[in-house]
Amino acid sequence: MIKQAIIPLAGLGTRLLPLTSIFPKELLPINGVPGIEYIIDECIEAGIKEIIFIISKKKNLIKKYFYQDKIYKDFLAKKKNPRVNNHYKKILKNRKMIKFVYQNKPLGTGDAVLKAYKFIKDKYFLMLLPDDLIFKENCSKAMIKIHKKFNSSVMASMSVDKDSVSRWGIYKFKKKLSKTDYLISDVVEKPNKKNAPSNKAVIGRYILPKSIFSKLLALKPGKSGEIHITDAIRLLINQNEKFIAHNFSGKYLDCGTMSGYIKSNLEISKL
Ligand code: UTP
Repeated sequence: MIKQAIIPLAGLGTRLLPLTSIFPKELLPINGVPGIEYIIDECIEAGIKEIIFIISKKKNLIKKYFYQDKIYKDFLAKKKNPRVNNHYKKILKNRKMIKFVYQNKPLGTGDAVLKAYKFIKDKYFLMLLPDDLIFKENCSKAMIKIHKKFNSSVMASMSVDKDSVSRWGIYKFKKKLSKTDYLISDVVEKPNKKNAPSNKAVIGRYILPKSIFSKLLALKPGKSGEIHITDAIRLLINQNEKFIAHNFSGKYLDCGTMSGYIKSNLEISKL
């Protein structure tokens, strides 16, 4: 069973400046809802019981968002407002399952995940990158099903334009397991077009084995001086850990760039 999820939230969000100069990008509204709430909903629906948020001192507003009881209580004492009341109830319920862990220097997604090391109990856990929203299919739920079937690690994937491979982790597969699932033989973080092993990209949903922590500990900083989760995954694949790519059928929205963020608002309002 996959019961725990790690969500790295400690990055600087520079691509969304000026919106992120003081405000964490994960709290920015997407169609009237802070983006992080879509991710929490996805986790809960997929059966996750504990979520570990990796935040930083600079992004303490994320923690505060879940602990504003006085504001809600004062307002609800004066006014009966079902919308706000329901939302407050949801926050009270959700915060019980969230643990806050700190990464005060943004040294990469791999380094962020490493901060949760001592809290992970089972052999596998889920990891979600909150910039990547997927609608119309609960991608985490579908991946947990695949994990159960193959007893393997799983990553979400989609085909991308050949000219954009340098933005993603790109994988090579050795076997097609079904219409949507591939057995991975290698993965490279942000390759240039010439060296890319394919145009199949890894998207921000991962089911990872606990053994990834020892690989992360041993890694030296890679591209742009950061510890990338992809580099640790590559080491595990080289040691024959089974990784399956799941080509999800849902609608993917990239909320980490300004154009993607604006587009996401419009797209979600149409769903
Ligand atoms: P990104 O690299 O896409 O986001 O990380 P970023 O660094 O926040 O934004 P830009 O590139 O400056 O615009 C993907 C996710 O991993 C988290 C980020 O918060 C984001 O949710 N992250 C990234 C960390 O938690 N720690 C890091 O050191 C880096």
